[in-house]
Amino acid sequence: MSTLQKKRLSYQPAIPNSLKDLNAVQLQEQKEGRKPSEHLKKFFPKTFSQSPVLLSEGVVKQTRPLRIGALFSGGMASGGHNVLVGLFHALKKIQSQSQLFGILNGPKGLIENQAKELQEKEIGSYFNQGGFDCLGTGRTKIETEEQFASSLNTCKDLNLDGLVIIGGDDSNTNAAFLAEYFLQKGLKTQVVGVPKTIDGDLRSQDIEISFGFDSACKTYSEIIGNIARDAISAKKYYHFIKLMGRSASHIALECALATHPNLAFIGEEKKSLNAIVEEIATLICERFEKKKEYGVILIPEGLIEFIPEMKTLIALLNHSPPENLPLPEKKLFDELPKDIQKQILIDRDPHGNIQVSQIDTEALLIELVKKELKKRSFRGKFSAQGHFLGYEGRSCFPSNFDANYGYSLGMLAALCLRDGLTGVICAMQNLHLPPKKWELKAVPILHLMHLEIRNGKEKCVIEKTLVDLTSKPFVLFSGKRNRWRLEDDYQYPGPIQFFGDSEITDTVPITLL
Ligand code: FBP
Repeated sequence: MSTLQKKRLSYQPAIPNSLKDLNAVQLQEQKEGRKPSEHLKKFFPKTFSQSPVLLSEGVVKQTRPLRIGALFSGGMASGGHNVLVGLFHALKKIQSQSQLFGILNGPKGLIENQAKELQEKEIGSYFNQGGFDCLGTGRTKIETEEQFASSLNTCKDLNLDGLVIIGGDDSNTNAAFLAEYFLQKGLKTQVVGVPKTIDGDLRSQDIEISFGFDSACKTYSEIIGNIARDAISAKKYYHFIKLMGRSASHIALECALATHPNLAFIGEEKKSLNAIVEEIATLICERFEKKKEYGVILIPEGLIEFIPEMKTLIALLNHSPPENLPLPEKKLFDELPKDIQKQILIDRDPHGNIQVSQIDTEALLIELVKKELKKRSFRGKFSAQGHFLGYEGRSCFPSNFDANYGYSLGMLAALCLRDGLTGVICAMQNLHLPPKKWELKAVPILHLMHLEIRNGKEKCVIEKTLVDLTSKPFVLFSGKRNRWRLEDDYQYPGPIQFFGDSEITDTVPITLL
């Protein structure tokens, strides 16, 4: 272990006051609140009428030892190991004979019955560390009758009282279906979801943010700040920085607020490809007039799918080969650079999503801007560098915020299982305040779901939360972006801090404020 790894093992996450004495709290039903869409009733007859629950004072009389399984699902997000450790510690506090089983390599491990019992020593070595390597992860979608039956057999074989699925929108959709299926089959295993994803798009009025978003954004912002400082020093390159975030542009918005680039696109503004290229070319021309031949431009990876004409093209390509495209889309496809054409055709992931992380949008924009500048007979120099910040932010050491949040989410998941809940997802509120003030809840996963067309079929899925163009963070951004275009106002956030002044160690995402 590196010195920092060892040092981080001794960090004690700050937790909400309500988690200090687990015997003095209970999850209690809230009658008020959102109701699921009626369309979902036929898919979820057993779990349809559940209500949200709030962690409140209450006396717990008797507890029995619990046998719980846990798995990671989807992409890495910092804080995940702390969910496991929080879950483990809370289960032992609830009843010292309780056991935690790690399901290996994501949902596939559940289908194939790959599990190991987690012991204090092993799990302790992952405390406050990045990655998901204690168990591994995967993107297998549980959808066929055989997969559901095998998952049930694994839970039966391990005699599990509960299963914790630590995942994003697609993984928690899996969790909702498993909870319903287990109830229908009379299996005792309860299923509880924990909101994970760096993308920040698994939100609701109860879930303010998923864990992992903060650490990823801080890592990207550090690098963007470094690149900006390089740009303003050398004064010779335009840096086109693509940022992860499959659909929504939450990461790009957070990083823009942290670093003040010259331009940052937010996919949800749905600009056309032409408008985007013209906006960049105009920026370059205006900066040239000010003798500035450098700059920093942020591009969310999901931008490509928000561009109306690209969205239509991608939707058509989901069902037909390029040769069969209608004329306008065929023309657009033919005009794209060859590499981009190949990337758009890559197989969809198991959940039907286009793999936007594999599409070099930054390279595409650089190419198109070059052409546009030529058309405008631009007299200056345009040298561009493309970057993709994605995988480097998903497995970093969790920030204090994500370490605290992940640990508390794990503890809350244990309480959901103790209190007999299934088909719910853990939720915390007031996250902009110190952890002791966080409010804890669990919400039926169905409350986040809707019917969506995927691969031409009606599917019940969790609705991704996009950037709201009327929200406070977006309004803040749009009020400032004009100034950032020509006046360089770059901010240099530097690396995530773990030691020292709490002003730098305990910051929360700007978009939560
Ligand atoms: P999750 O939604 O599973 O957390 O993953 C999000 C993400 O990191 C996206 O930002 C990115 O587009 C995608 O995963 C990359 O997937 P992969 O790891 O399969 O390349």
